[in-house]
Amino acid sequence: MGQLLGIDIGTTGARALVVDAADGRVVAEGTSEYPLHTPRPLWAEQDADDWWRGAVTAVKAALAKAGTKDIVAVGLSGQMHGVVLVDGAGRPIGRSLLWCDGRTEEECAEITSRVGADRLLELTANPALTGFSAPKLLWVRRHAPAEFERAKKFLLPKDYVRLRLTGEYASEVSDASGTLLFDVVNRRWSDAMTSALDLDRSLLPEVHESPVVSGRVTKAVAAELGIAAGIPVVGGGGDQAAGAVGTGLVRAGVVSSVIGSSGVVFAHAETPARDPKGRVHTFCHAVPGAWHVMGVTQGAGLSLRWFRDQFAPGESYEALTALAATAPAGCAGLTFLPYLMGERTPHLDPKARGVWFGLTAAHTRAHLVRSVLEGVTYSLRDCLDILTAMGVPVSEVRASGGGGKSPFWRQMQADVFGRDVATIGVAEGPAYGAALLAGVGAGAWSSVPEACDAVIHVADRLAPDPTPRAAYVRGRALYRKLYERLAPLYKEVV
Ligand code: XUL
Repeated sequence: MGQLLGIDIGTTGARALVVDAADGRVVAEGTSEYPLHTPRPLWAEQDADDWWRGAVTAVKAALAKAGTKDIVAVGLSGQMHGVVLVDGAGRPIGRSLLWCDGRTEEECAEITSRVGADRLLELTANPALTGFSAPKLLWVRRHAPAEFERAKKFLLPKDYVRLRLTGEYASEVSDASGTLLFDVVNRRWSDAMTSALDLDRSLLPEVHESPVVSGRVTKAVAAELGIAAGIPVVGGGGDQAAGAVGTGLVRAGVVSSVIGSSGVVFAHAETPARDPKGRVHTFCHAVPGAWHVMGVTQGAGLSLRWFRDQFAPGESYEALTALAATAPAGCAGLTFLPYLMGERTPHLDPKARGVWFGLTAAHTRAHLVRSVLEGVTYSLRDCLDILTAMGVPVSEVRASGGGGKSPFWRQMQADVFGRDVATIGVAEGPAYGAALLAGVGAGAWSSVPEACDAVIHVADRLAPDPTPRAAYVRGRALYRKLYERLAPLYKEVV
């Protein structure tokens, strides 16, 4: 029945996959990188038109490799929480503030005091965090009022790409959940939130369930990409929900650990379960009628990319993980706190900063890079512990994302989590999940779980190795103490 196109608008670049709608096989892939702007510490911005250009380049590359014109449906996924403001003609106004931007502490405090902490949890299932969209909207309104005045719509990153593809202003429930303007329990925008924050309701796009058709590819874009006009574009999902579909996390029991720019431990939930302290997010899943809970490490792959860019320019991630493997577990007393962009789970602290602790002249580049991998893995273990304390069943951890590709980092996860870590056989991830959602929308499968059951199978499973256990237990205990001791000092950093 033709092919599906999945497009992911990531933080480092766009990725497009052409997937066979008959058997879920990946036919071809295309990617394209774009810049991330950090004009000040803890600020993070991108140009929405870079996403569009990246998407077009990635799609054209994938279509050329696949040699196909027979695309039957398109699915979108993307980095969550980013704020794109567009004018009456649908043009972006200024740069978009991203998920890892930490400038909105004041606005978070304002939202919590306007709405009330308990009421906020009731209305949106989540606390106000700097990563989320609503505080960013308030920041723009306060600091760039003229730009805010011109805005006719607020869109999430992948939904700007949808606008360019289809001309429609639309979103879907999983990504809308991360705005703090969405009634996650009832799966619709929260009028109580928009009115409490004096935001014009008309700023918000229409919202769909993830596999539902949200628009159709316009003639002009179809001609540019070399596909047929009128192809349906389904809602898709925020990168985590779409990635979960792409990894087969559509039932309770399996938990995933995703190391992309961020690091996420994600669990499917049949009800909107909440951590009373708000340390993990409760969002709608891309599976209609289901939710998910997830803990987020702000700087996971982002920490390794930072290390590479600053200390090993031009080296591959494979070379860096091979180097890390030459240092001992526990890094001879060297500990890295991966809080380069503040931290969400478990600390909810935008002021947290990265740290190397315990450096000596005996440490080498190998220790440094291994400590980065260990610090990120300890942070993911923090996320996993909160989910298990909430009673989330964990029968298996499934690793994915760039970090999940490395057998060395997967083994480290198995050792630090003390659990088996599996991976799946096909190209996992958000773009694949978006393609499967498109397939459900186009009728290739009757539901999201049916699609996953048909095409996703575990390919590899690693058991924890007892040898490095003591080193990791010691390393993790110090890692946790360091944050507690440093938290008051972070407030003094100017
Ligand atoms: C999830 C989150 C990140 C971004 C970027 O809450 O902020 O996963 O979506 O990947």
